[in-house]
Amino acid sequence: MDKDSKDYKEQMQAEHSTPLHTGRGKGEGPLLSIKDLHASINGKEILKGINLTIREGEVHALMGQNGAGKSTLSNVLVGHPAYEVTKGSVTFKGKDLLAMSPEDRAHEGIFLSFQHPVEIPGVSMVNFMRAAVNEQRKYKGQTALTASEFLKLMREKRAIVELDGKLANRSVNEGFSGGEKKRNEIFQMAMLEPTFAILDETDSGLDVDALRIVAEGFNKLRTPQTSAIVITHYQRLLDYLKPDIVHVLLNGRIVKTGGPDLAQEIEQRGFDWIKKEVQTLP
Ligand SMILES: Nc1ncnc2c1ncn2[C@@H]1O[C@H](COP(=O)(O)OP(=O)(O)OP(=O)(O)O)[C@@H](O)[C@H]1O
Ligand SMILES: [Mg+2]
Repeated sequence: MDKDSKDYKEQMQAEHSTPLHTGRGKGEGPLLSIKDLHASINGKEILKGINLTIREGEVHALMGQNGAGKSTLSNVLVGHPAYEVTKGSVTFKGKDLLAMSPEDRAHEGIFLSFQHPVEIPGVSMVNFMRAAVNEQRKYKGQTALTASEFLKLMREKRAIVELDGKLANRSVNEGFSGGEKKRNEIFQMAMLEPTFAILDETDSGLDVDALRIVAEGFNKLRTPQTSAIVITHYQRLLDYLKPDIVHVLLNGRIVKTGGPDLAQEIEQRGFDWIKKEVQTLP
């Protein structure tokens, strides 16, 4: 083929370009693969053999009673130092996630929207977000944003979740209402554009209008490559986010997996029928 021909150039581009966002092509395996994961806190085993596979672009809902281990799983995935992984493996984009620092996990595109966001008095939202965004850019070999570029980005992203400008001028979460903190989590997600987001009860504490704005904001931020684990007790958030797969976590294990109907069934029937099913397993 002639090296100057259009076909040749296109072929070379196709062979050497990496797809946007994740740098992953088809047939490279799942985005996240969790195998027989066991984890403890203060010597108490909470996760007792989690198996979960998430492919690029999939949204998985994770449901289950209080204390089942949903937040523990989230914290283990982002590398919270209080949890000890005692068995099993997690690969993310083919890499050993458990061997990575929490910072590198974030830089690789993992984001956790906390169930209980912490207040950071004395650290302004602007400085906090600028540090986070520029650290991520550095990791990717990009130059830091100028002050005006950064403020423009803040404004754009604030608009997506309709975050009040006054909140963005305060210290991180300091004195924010419960719902304001949750909205702020999704604002941070908007700024960081993760490839894999974990939303841990982001719907709790949001009023009906705020829930719609936050959920629609999440949907606007989604690309065909964005994957997520959405932890919730309620169908309402799932009506907006339309998960592909629904899992039930019980006592540190995923005991049931189904389609979106499973969430509706749980809303109507609770968890007792699932517990009975588990008891009758051989
Ligand atoms: N420091 C700790 N010491 C002992 N047990 C702990 C500690 N931290 C968490 N746990 C226990 O781990 C279990 C799982 O907690 P986790 O927060 O993962 O539950 P969850 O599924 O997210 O529940 P919820 O729906 O209420 O948010 C709970 O029984 C909790 O009490
Ligand atoms: Mg929780």
